[in-house]
Amino acid sequence: MKIKYNFNNLMSDNIGEGSGVSEEEIDSLSGRCKEIDSNLKKMRKEGKIHFFDLPYQENVVKDIKDYAGTVADKFENLVILGIGGSALGGIALHKALNHPYYNILSKDKRKTPRIFFLDNIDPDTHSAIFDIIDVRTSCFTFISKSGSTAETNAQFLIFMGKLKEILGNELKDHIVFITDKEKGNFRKIADDEGIKSFIIPDGVGGRFSVLTPVGLLPAAVVGIDIEKLLEGAALMDKICEKQNIWENPAYMNAVLHYILDTKKGKNISVMMSYSDALFGIADWYRQLWAESLGKKYSTDGEIVHVGQTPVKALGVTDQHSQLQLYNEGPNDKIITLLGTEKFNSEIMLGSFYQNIEGISYLSGHSLNELLFAELTATETALTKNNRPNCSIILPEINELALGQIFFMLEVQTAFSGCLYNINPFDQPGVEMGKQFAYGLLGRKGFGDKKAEIENRKKKNEKYII
Ligand code: PA5
Repeated sequence: MKIKYNFNNLMSDNIGEGSGVSEEEIDSLSGRCKEIDSNLKKMRKEGKIHFFDLPYQENVVKDIKDYAGTVADKFENLVILGIGGSALGGIALHKALNHPYYNILSKDKRKTPRIFFLDNIDPDTHSAIFDIIDVRTSCFTFISKSGSTAETNAQFLIFMGKLKEILGNELKDHIVFITDKEKGNFRKIADDEGIKSFIIPDGVGGRFSVLTPVGLLPAAVVGIDIEKLLEGAALMDKICEKQNIWENPAYMNAVLHYILDTKKGKNISVMMSYSDALFGIADWYRQLWAESLGKKYSTDGEIVHVGQTPVKALGVTDQHSQLQLYNEGPNDKIITLLGTEKFNSEIMLGSFYQNIEGISYLSGHSLNELLFAELTATETALTKNNRPNCSIILPEINELALGQIFFMLEVQTAFSGCLYNINPFDQPGVEMGKQFAYGLLGRKGFGDKKAEIENRKKKNEKYII
């Protein structure tokens, strides 16, 4: 079953010319889109854009499933250490496809290990994890493409200390690395010490890596069907092969976002999930869109400073927090409503207090109906206020649908990078911050960065109160 992308409310027919896009505006880009499509296909063929190949990796899947089976048999807990693209895909998958209270389910209901993602370096969170897990019954997965990310390396040092103290030489059986095939510190340690590792394929950056072992291994350990996930991605790959923008949801969404940003001042892209389970997708998308498209230089070296600001929101919760702004504040946003046609459960509302009209009208309806009514109401209000909005609706929240949406948004991002004429696969703005941090912590080769921080303009006391 296919996911559905509905862009009626991005069109000028529905929200007016000032805020919406006309068919002519879309078609005026068709020559450029054909060129981009041909270039992307050529680069794919030449092996220059690797995320396109990820739906088709039978050997890796077998290895992951075998290893995940042993982890699930042997351990009570799986702890995932990594940041950014090394964490967000795994979190999104787990949140979408597992029980909402997974970690506190009883063991017989849960069946697979508890899972913890530590994707920040808050000292309190790290200290507290040892109140929750027993190192002797836990497996630790260190994920870093570069192997040089300070945060993940710091986590490695913390857990190595604990593991050595408690497990001595047996610690190797409790560790797995997911990293580059050849480069980086984790690769060296894994190879030198014979520690189990999985490969993040060449040319797949963190934010495009959810369908590599980065997302697949944690998913497989907690019982997610990774073959179905890849099947979903392959299905979307087929759909996205179409050159015609009008038949290709990833290209169309890229084109519409591009026109709305560059021609109509909609420089914020909100993804509002009408499902708790899908909220992780909004978080994953936020990184994908921000890091891929927020760029200073064009591919020709011109200064361009492009990129929409992605925002995540949760329906209906944020109807009581953000929606006032979306409906009446600056008309500078495109709102993508993310939803599902079917929830796993249906909850009926009881018939009490029939004499109180403000309560009784709800009786006989389900919570599902209320949520769908609120989604429709939000869509209608946004449209009435000429606020560009579109929807991506899953037939249900399962692996097949998740594979489709991940792949669609990745293709959309790559295509958008070409429309903006920037490189969507690098992140020089992140690198600079990393280098300053290395300098401050005394890493060899980064003394100039330390000096730059020490010599920066002193803070004016007047501005600190
Ligand atoms: O998308 C990206 O490339 C980044 O967000 C990285 O995933 C993040 O910086 C972590 O990098 P690494 O996997 O090298 O530790």
